[in-house]
Amino acid sequence: MTVEYVEVRDPGVLWKIMDVMKDAWGMSDYTEAVPPHMMWAVARNGGFLMAAVEDGEPVGFVMGFTGRDEEHGLYHYSHMVGVKRSHRGHGIALRLKLEQREWALRNGFSLIVWTYDPHQGLNARFNFGKLGVVDREFHPNYYGEMRDSINRGLPSDRFRVEWWITSPRVRERISGRDRAPSFDEVKDVALSVVETKDRGGWRAVRSVRLTTENDLVLLEFPGDINVVRDNDFEEALRWKMELRRAFTYYLRKGYIVVEHVPLVEETRRNFYLLWRTSLKPVLEGDYPWR
Ligand SMILES: CC(C)(COP(=O)(O)OP(=O)(O)OC[C@H]1O[C@@H](n2cnc3c(N)ncnc32)[C@H](O)[C@@H]1OP(=O)(O)O)[C@@H](O)C(=O)NCCC(=O)NCCS
Repeated sequence: MTVEYVEVRDPGVLWKIMDVMKDAWGMSDYTEAVPPHMMWAVARNGGFLMAAVEDGEPVGFVMGFTGRDEEHGLYHYSHMVGVKRSHRGHGIALRLKLEQREWALRNGFSLIVWTYDPHQGLNARFNFGKLGVVDREFHPNYYGEMRDSINRGLPSDRFRVEWWITSPRVRERISGRDRAPSFDEVKDVALSVVETKDRGGWRAVRSVRLTTENDLVLLEFPGDINVVRDNDFEEALRWKMELRRAFTYYLRKGYIVVEHVPLVEETRRNFYLLWRTSLKPVLEGDYPWR
């Protein structure tokens, strides 16, 4: 697979990027897609729009623009990264993010921010495990109702993650010198607070403990929320509501979501590792489980 990574300079390609969007998010039509004129406005006004192109056709893209808030001043906001289903698992999304990072560094940014659904294990693995983001913010129903097939019917709860692109944590992670901890590495130092039950191929949530007795906390979330939703919609909703309570509580108590920890047995299980600390040791890669 020969893929080129090119900043979009030709508006003619924007409809094809919309098709990638439609495919990646499973949209039934273009209602939830970003229209070409908006992508073009971003690309022409200090934003970043890059396509991954195979045989002249876009198969992935990343798009971001400048954001600003009280705490950070100016930062780069990455609104979307998507790869066609047929082209996943080849590191295309990772390469797009690394290109975006290089561009952001060249343009004077040290922070890239984006939101994602914390219930989506693949995104958790990608964001924390491969890129080294951290999360200090949780927003219930961030976008209101969404209609694409990934989001339909469930509240659009989101993490707003921070990718500190000049930090030792991120440098070590993207270079491959550092990796996410395994479940065995953290299970004895972190308190596991979510009780779950096997329902044959997927897990249901039983209870969540809200406690500050330990600085390191393991929060289980679905191995694949899409499978839970397809088997038992009410259970998917229960997961959303229980974790909404948990994320709200722990982030307010000063915990930072620092890792995604996978546990692959007969079925896949996913955990977030939370650490009650300040941002500095996290960004320096000074982890207590080492
Ligand atoms: C997110 C996305 C861009 C990643 O694309 P990609 O290049 O195919 O990603 P990869 O296949 O290289 O990586 C996926 C990883 O998640 C893992 N994974 C897959 N399903 C998982 C799950 N349910 N739980 C945990 N990890 C999972 C895979 O094992 C793989 O890890 P590995 O490389 O260590 O084996 C792509 O899936 C996409 O376009 N999704 C729809 C749009 C979207 O969600 N965009 C991102 C918003 S932040």
